[in-house]
This record gives sequence, structure tokens and C-alpha cells, in this order.
Amino acid sequence: MSETQQVKPAGSAQPTLAPRGLEGVAVAETLIGDVRGEEGFYHYRGYDATELARHCSFEQVWYLLLIGELPGPRELRWLQDQAVAGRSLPSGVASTLDEIARLPGYTPLGALRTAVSLSATALNLQPTLDLTPDQVRADALRMVALTPVLLMRLHRVHQGLEPVDPDHDLGYAAAYLQMLTGERPESVAARALEKYLITTMDHGFNSSTFTARVITSTGSDMGSALTGAIGALAGPLHGGAPSRALDMLDAIGTPDRAEEHLRDEVLGGQRLMGFGHRIYKTDDPRSVLLHEVARELGGPQVEFAEHVEATALRVLSELKPGRRLYTNVEFYSGVVMNTVGLSRDMFTPTFACSRTVGWTSAIVEQTANNRLIRPSAIYVGPAAPRPLPDGYAYA
Ligand code: ACO
Repeated sequence: MSETQQVKPAGSAQPTLAPRGLEGVAVAETLIGDVRGEEGFYHYRGYDATELARHCSFEQVWYLLLIGELPGPRELRWLQDQAVAGRSLPSGVASTLDEIARLPGYTPLGALRTAVSLSATALNLQPTLDLTPDQVRADALRMVALTPVLLMRLHRVHQGLEPVDPDHDLGYAAAYLQMLTGERPESVAARALEKYLITTMDHGFNSSTFTARVITSTGSDMGSALTGAIGALAGPLHGGAPSRALDMLDAIGTPDRAEEHLRDEVLGGQRLMGFGHRIYKTDDPRSVLLHEVARELGGPQVEFAEHVEATALRVLSELKPGRRLYTNVEFYSGVVMNTVGLSRDMFTPTFACSRTVGWTSAIVEQTANNRLIRPSAIYVGPAAPRPLPDGYAYA
């Protein structure tokens, strides 16, 4: 579809068919942020997202995305107070959470999705259509603050451990690790995780953000929109596979095996995990930042990952010339999360926690200027109306 073509509203004339996957179709205007793939740049409200990660706290960037401007000291204090208050479990959910954690088909992300829905019911979150902007923002703050608390309780109970209450003296990232282990984390680990979390808060009009917007456009409540968004994120094509790059490092095993392994993979038609991107045709800025973070953390896995990365880029440029394949966000995400102590099954749920900031900001924006999102499809089946076959007369 050319840029000037418009998808016509259903009803009067036949609508224009958008490309599969809506590629290249803009479906909304947003003030939240944007991704510029050719430049290797993405931003939150105009600020380079990786620069924000380097210089700001989780709470500062959370305020920026949700409210629209970077906070001054007073605004930051207000957000920090809301964030700490929002960590308390809604009354009546603790025992159900513990049962969810013991379900036979438990996965951290599936359990988190269920817990978010459960909490929204316990909190009696109302349809956004009936709320004032301040009330929608209050629900947004509450759900962002609560999500890691739900996740960590589920995780610990699933492992047969006692849940750990968040330490209210700690910010979001440090409390995230403290609820995981029961101990205050090293500041270098907390800061590394904080940078990862900021880097992944938002990324353009991705599938889960779009899902959250579609649900919100019906006037539904914040809990429904977030539950749907987590469901969209659970798919391997979106957020469901960040541990695969680490699996590849495991499969390679030692530096001397990298070249042969990577060549065999590419020549065998396999894709190297953590390389290539649909939008970034240059360095993925998230990968550059997370490489930096991994270096700050240090350790043998980082050196090994750097060796594999350099080898992979050389192999790809030789065997896949002209495809513009660079390291993507997943390659160093896995290394960073692993090094700060998160197990692989917690990678995508951690991503879900940070992305809740982006989702709730999008929900707030959607409610501020809402129109029901209701596209059409072009029917391509047998000519209608069809006569009913004999024998279908209701008696
Ligand atoms: N390893 C080897 N070859 C690759 C890779 C890769 N990682 N990625 C793309 N290619 C090759 C393809 O085989 C194709 O080669 P061909 O022209 O000989 O057929 C060419 O590059 C173009 O591939 P496309 O499929 O058109 O690229 P697309 O933009 O659709 O792919 C994707 C993007 C899905 C991320 C792909 O690069 C990939 O599968 N990477 C590995 C998995 C991965 O790291 N996923 C995480 C992405 S980050 C994120 O989404 C948050």
C-alpha cells in the first residue's frame, strides 16, 4: 500500500486491504516514542532511550513515559511514593497466587498473566471509559508497581521458597533482585538490571502495545489490556525467546569451537540467535548499550560472548553478504540477565515487567483520545449468500 492510500472505513465502500502483518501501516499518532531502524535509533518522548538508560533511574524514565516530561525532584518523590505504596498485594490474592504457583503447567509468564488478571479483579479496576485521566494514571502506576511483586512471589513459591516482601528503601530494580533472592543486591548488579529495564520499557508500536491499545479502545479496564498484552508478548515471535542466544553460547561451549559451529549453522540454513532484525539494518542501539552493561558486569561469559559475537558477524558478512545482519537486543540481554542472577525462564517475564511501563503509557494515551479500533477484513470465501444444503430445515 502506498503511503497516500487510506484504509477506508467499513460500510460504504470496499475497504483497501492493508499488507499482511500491517507492515508499513501507521494506525495511530503517538507522543510516546518511535523507532528509526535505518539510523539505529529509538526514543522515549524525544529523548534517546539508551541515553536515558545511561543517565537516569527506572523511576525517572517511568515518569517520563507515563506523564510526558522528565520529573523534577518533587515529581520524582511523588512517583517514588506511589511506586512503593503500589507494591502491596491486593487483599485476598495471596493464597490464590500460591495455588497458581503450584499448578502443574506453571510457566512464569503464564502465571504472571493470570496473576495480573486476578489482581485487576481484586482491585476492582473499572472500565477506562468510566474513569478520569487521573484515575487511569493511578491504575497505571499501581499495576506497574505491583507486577514484579506478583512475579517474584509466584517464582519463589513455585520453587518451594518463602515469598520475600519488597524492601521499601530500594528502588524498582534493586527491589526486583531483592524479592528474587531475599538479599539486597550489589549496586553494580542492580544498576545493570536497571539499564536493561529502561532499555526495554518501550519500542514503538509493537504487537503487545497494539494489543493493549485495541483492548483499551473498547473502554475496557487496565487489567484486561495488560493481560492481553502479556499474552501477545508470550509468543516466540515477540518476546518469547530471549534465552535462545544463551542456548547458542552453551551449544558452542568453548571459544575454539565458535567459528566451526557458526559456519555450520549458517551453511545448514539455520539462523544465528541474537543477530538480524526486521527494523534495524545497522547496530541495534539496545545491543550496543547492553554490550556496555555486560562489560561493566564483567566475567568469563562476557568475554566468551564477545568472541562469539565477533565471529558471528564475520561469518554472517561472508556467508550472507549484503543482508545487513547485526547483533540484536537478545544477544547481550541474556548475558546481562544471567549475570545478575536471573534464570532463563525469568527473562521474558522480566521483559514483561519493564514493558508494563510502555503498555500503561500507551493505555493512558489511548484513553485520552479514544476511538474504538475496529478494522475490517475482505471476505474471500464462496459467493454469499449461499443456500443452505438440503436437510437443514429446523423442525
Ligand atoms: N542468521 C543467519 N541468517 C540470517 C539471520 C540470522 N540471525 N537473520 C536473517 N538472516 C538471513 C536470512 O536467512 C535471509 O537470507 P537469504 O536472503 O539468503 O534468504 C536474509 O538474512 C534476510 O532474512 P529475513 O527473514 O528477510 O529477515 P527478517 O527481517 O525477516 O528477520 C529476524 C528478522 C526474524 C529477527 C531474523 O533476523 C532472525 O530470525 N534472527 C534470529 C532470531 C533472533 O535473534 N530473534 C530476536 C530478534 S530481536 C527482537 O525481535 C526483539
